This record gives sequence, C-alpha cells and structure tokens, in this order.
Amino acid sequence: MEGTICRFCGGMRGNMNNIFGVRIIEEYVHMCHDGVRQGWHERNGGNLTYRMRPEEVAECRPYFKETPGEWVDIGIRAENLKNEFFISTGSGKFLQNVDLEPQNNICVVEIDDAGEKYRIVWGLERGGRPTSEFPTHFMNHSVRKRVTDGANRVIYHAHTPYVIALTYVLPLRAEPFTRMLWKSATECCVVFPGGVGVVPWMVPGGPDIAKATCMLMEQYDAAVWAYHGLFVSGPDFDTAFGLMHTIEKAAQIASIALAANGGRRLPHVITDDNLRQIGKEFGVTLNETILNYKDDDEMYC
Ligand code: 13P
Ligand code: ZN
Repeated sequence: MEGTICRFCGGMRGNMNNIFGVRIIEEYVHMCHDGVRQGWHERNGGNLTYRMRPEEVAECRPYFKETPGEWVDIGIRAENLKNEFFISTGSGKFLQNVDLEPQNNICVVEIDDAGEKYRIVWGLERGGRPTSEFPTHFMNHSVRKRVTDGANRVIYHAHTPYVIALTYVLPLRAEPFTRMLWKSATECCVVFPGGVGVVPWMVPGGPDIAKATCMLMEQYDAAVWAYHGLFVSGPDFDTAFGLMHTIEKAAQIASIALAANGGRRLPHVITDDNLRQIGKEFGVTLNETILNYKDDDEMYC
C-alpha cells in the first residue's frame, strides 16, 4: 500500500487520514468510475456491492459512524452472510457522482447476527439506503459465497447497451445466448467458459428477479437480465469488471455483425470445433451442454 500512486486521483495511497485512503474503498470508487467511463451507468442505472474481508473492515472501522443507522429487514435470510460487512452503492444515487462525493453516494452496511437485517455504519451522509437491488445482491452473494467456497466477493449490475439490444433479438435462453457470445470473439469462451444465464424480463428490485437470478448463479457467474442489463460476480473488482466488459464487448460485436449482415444468419463464424480447440489450448473446460446445443434458429451458420 505504501508508496503506490492512486491511478484515479494521482495521490499517494494510504496517505489520506480518512476512509478514502483505505485501499478497498479507493478500488471500489475506481470500479464505479470505470463503469461510468464505459457508458454503462446512465442516471442511477446499475449498482455494485462488495463483501469485505475482516482486515478491510478493521481498516475502515475508525471512520464508522458513532451511532450506526437503524437495523432494516432485508426480506431474505442468509445464514452464511451473518455479521458480514458490505460496501454498496446507494439507491437512486448516480454512479458518476461516486468519485466526487463517495460519502454521499455509497455506504458500508453491517449484517446482523441472524443474517436478515442490515444497518448503515458509514456513508450516505445525506440520507438514503443501499441499492434497491440489495436483496438480489445479498441473496446472490450468499449463493456465490457458498458455491465458490468464499472466493467470490463482488456482485456488479450494469446497464450494458449491447447486451440489452441482443435480448431483443436472440432467444432468451443460456445456450443460444452464450453460443452467440462465445462465437463473437476468439477469447470470449476463455473468459466465461461456464456460459451466461438468461433471466426473462422481470420487475427490477423485487423478490422474483432475486430468486430467478440466484437459481442461475448456482451455475453461472453472469446472468443477462432481458431488456435491462447484466449481472456478474467475481472474486475481485478486476475479474468482475473484466467479465462484464468481455460479455458486453462480445454483444457489441455480435450486434454489429448481425446488423452488417442485414439481420440474416451469419455466413461463417468460429465453429464448435474451433471452440473445443481454444478450450484445449487454454486449459479451460467449456460448458458441454452449451457446446453441444443445436438449434435451427441460431443466428449463425
Ligand atoms: P438503484 O439506484 O436502486 O441501485 O437501482 C438502479 C438499477 O439499475 C436497478 O436495477
Ligand atoms: Zn438496473
């Protein structure tokens, strides 16, 4: 930490005598800014949560509020998240304002010892609550913590325009969607060899979208939300952001190629055997169900 320069503010890391000098807070703010630079966060679109390590909580604790907020029911119980701390964007807050005033746009919340309530211990100084998608994030953190043996800590939701556009064109199922994305650029299948799940259109922030996403996140680390955006998880900010970025870029290429071809089936693409070769060469196991899926309606030959 000592002696490194913050790529965001140009200052020395760890030199600020406040919570912004804590590396995890700084990295969280960077990630919000990185998403904004990509054009994924119009207005208050998108949200980010991070499950903190105990040592990161200890670093932030000196800056916590003297009197934490009231305990608030999350509406979901997650036994494996009791007493955890999360950093969350605020509901209705613009991600483009996070770097300007982190204290008013993000917060740190503590989970109670039953795993069913949160309280704000830092941030949102002008009022507010964690993202409206917090129940969805929370439920999905619980799943991803379990299935990755605690490795996954980040859940990120963004309004990625090309992924959204493709949901109007492709069948809303994991197999055809993933195959289109895998075939959009050579190294996509290395970044998401397990594929991406697809959630049909649902009301944002509600329990149904939380449950539907959770069922997919048992298996996938990314889920497309039809006509809405993308939801990803990862062990750290770079991996989660890279996954979001790669999927969105693949969707961009697919959209451009389909449009350039007048919306007709693409005449030639990366073949299934090419995908198998890439998997072998890069030492990754591609999802066999997706790899072996056949559908006459596919948009490529
Ligand atoms: P929040 O402002 O509550 O995070 O909602 C934004 C969003 O993208 C909902 O899906
Ligand atoms: Zn959204």
